[in-house]
Amino acid sequence: MIAAELAPGVELGPLEPWQAEEFAAHLDRAREHIRPWVGPSFVTTDLAGARATLQRYADGAARDGIRILGIREHGALVGGVMLVEFSAASGTCELGCWLEPAAEGKGYISGACRELLRWVFEVRGLHRAEWRCRADNARSSAVAERLGMTLEGVLREAWLVNGDGPDEKTWHDKQVWSILAHEWTAPSRARHSRG
Ligand SMILES: CC(C)(COP(=O)(O)OP(=O)(O)OC[C@H]1O[C@@H](n2cnc3c(N)ncnc32)[C@H](O)[C@@H]1OP(=O)(O)O)[C@@H](O)C(=O)NCCC(=O)NCCS
Repeated sequence: MIAAELAPGVELGPLEPWQAEEFAAHLDRAREHIRPWVGPSFVTTDLAGARATLQRYADGAARDGIRILGIREHGALVGGVMLVEFSAASGTCELGCWLEPAAEGKGYISGACRELLRWVFEVRGLHRAEWRCRADNARSSAVAERLGMTLEGVLREAWLVNGDGPDEKTWHDKQVWSILAHEWTAPSRARHSRG
């Protein structure tokens, strides 16, 4: 269980299938903002889709795999972080994240990702954590850099974005960032951090 207070009144905590209505309502606020930058399966448009996303992560967590956590500002869901890949056997994982626009610029994601990194390195003993983003996603690259990650390279035109028409496809470059266990120096923990 990863849970922490990221700032006064701002909590990192569970986001589970029973909270699908809250997640669907949040996606209505976040959808167009995040659509260009996240995988299409995450940008669902109804309650069933929101529940399916949370169920996929719950099933993953039950198998000690992928996980999702919510960030709530004074009780309202404003975004979250994920382990979109997690393998204790191989010692590797990949982080993901999103926010609705009103929650940007407050350090919530950097703080939440530090809690994830603390957990994967200090609690689970993993060796390597990755961050993959569109090369033109400046805010996402800035988070990776703020976390102390190294830009390892660019996968050319590896990120497909489908347009409205059947033939409207655009391929964007994808950055790969990472941090290794021996490079991780835990910052002072968020207040009231648990887990
Ligand atoms: C990527 C994304 C989550 C980054 O959000 P963000 O708010 O820029 O990142 P953080 O929450 O870490 O906040 C950092 C900002 O808060 C400021 N900040 C304030 N207090 C801070 C603190 N205590 N610690 C760190 N930063 C702080 C930083 O200066 C920075 O602002 P700036 O960019 O104006 O310099 C957001 O832009 C988003 O949801 N984008 C769409 C979806 C997406 O791209 N997801 C990632 C796919 S790879």
